[in-house]
Amino acid sequence: MKAIQAGLLGAGTVGSGVFNVLKRNQEEIRRRAGRGIEITMVADLDTARARALVGAEVQVVSDARAVIANPEIDIVVELIGGYGIARQLVMEAIEAGKHVVTANKALLAVHGTEIFAAAHRRGVMVAFEAAVAGGIPIIKALREGLTANNIEWIAGIINGTTNFILSEMRDKGLDFDVALKEAQRLGYAEADPTFDIEGVDAAHKATIMSAIAFGVPVQFDKAYVEGITRLGAQDIRYAEQLGYRIKLLGITKRTASGIELRVHPALVPAKRLIANVEGAMNAVMVQGDAVGTTLYYGKGAGSEPTASAVIADLVDITRLHTADAAHRVPHLAFQPDAMSDAKVLPMSEVVTSYYLRLRVADQPGVLAKVTGLLAAAGISVDALLQREAGEGEKQTDLIILTHSVREGTMNDVLAQIQALPTVLAPITRIRKEELA
Ligand code: HSE
Repeated sequence: MKAIQAGLLGAGTVGSGVFNVLKRNQEEIRRRAGRGIEITMVADLDTARARALVGAEVQVVSDARAVIANPEIDIVVELIGGYGIARQLVMEAIEAGKHVVTANKALLAVHGTEIFAAAHRRGVMVAFEAAVAGGIPIIKALREGLTANNIEWIAGIINGTTNFILSEMRDKGLDFDVALKEAQRLGYAEADPTFDIEGVDAAHKATIMSAIAFGVPVQFDKAYVEGITRLGAQDIRYAEQLGYRIKLLGITKRTASGIELRVHPALVPAKRLIANVEGAMNAVMVQGDAVGTTLYYGKGAGSEPTASAVIADLVDITRLHTADAAHRVPHLAFQPDAMSDAKVLPMSEVVTSYYLRLRVADQPGVLAKVTGLLAAAGISVDALLQREAGEGEKQTDLIILTHSVREGTMNDVLAQIQALPTVLAPITRIRKEELA
């Protein structure tokens, strides 16, 4: 049977991985897909770079629309990124009746509803395994492998750059700025690493997983997003003394009152497997009512790990493109007419536990006053640590771990504690997730 033909939009790091892995493993992939899969056209503004990658047999163009317009192309692989031209091209490819594979989490987290609706109308597939956690097949696991379950929660380390930075801060006692420079030197972080360190990239991925887990629309605008830029090396040390590691987690959880969707640094018990995921690696924990806890670990970025996910999508489309559209796996795992309108909770309604670090005057009654305010709000203290004040020092750090409480309640109490004259600096608050 004639090979299915795919066109790449973008011949950068992921594009070259897709081309090289498809070529290297073509025989094995053909045996699995039932027919060959070939990249027959590549669009890149840098045509010389694309030509160097694909050689003389593949058509290279600078205009992505030439790929979409080519009637021989069955699948368009969008590897441009961002919400601008990539959005237009994906929509045009869908309207032209092409199946689409994309690694673009930002695009799907923000415009997924419009894109999936258009694909549904046109009867084409939009596949996006590479958009979340790179080479880890988490979309496949959530959408198909765990389909028997009521998913209860997902918690993931889904940004390698920030996990590398946090690992360096813990291992080597580095400050955030120094660890970030190291991440940039090694090529993990972008020259402008804002989306990584501010939690936006992780929030894009958490938004997509949330939609698939709970059958709700993608709602990036409702996600709570907090990055790691304000984390101090001392908090990593104190957390360690209390038996925790600090990780940037993407969390989504089903509760009786709605869905939690949040990205922020969190203390995780050091004994959990996920707390030991180090460097630029990714890991996702999924809790299902039938299966219990599952954990998926691997490379969340990089040329061939991401290509592994893109090619898995190409194989899926190759197997399914002749199937009746109604019999394919729905884009967001649930049938489009069976989506839920469960609301995403504001952060003030989220219930979690906390790590608090207070810089306080080292004098009688300070601890009693602070714990008194916590107690008055019904907040129970789980553990306490006070740094021994140095010789002649008049102030010290008070570290408090609390039991679970509504974030809005914690905000009110923190405002009261902050106003105490014996609290000498802004309070540090980091959420704590037991992931039990
Ligand atoms: N910048 C991302 C990360 C990889 O650091 O994990 C692509 O999503």
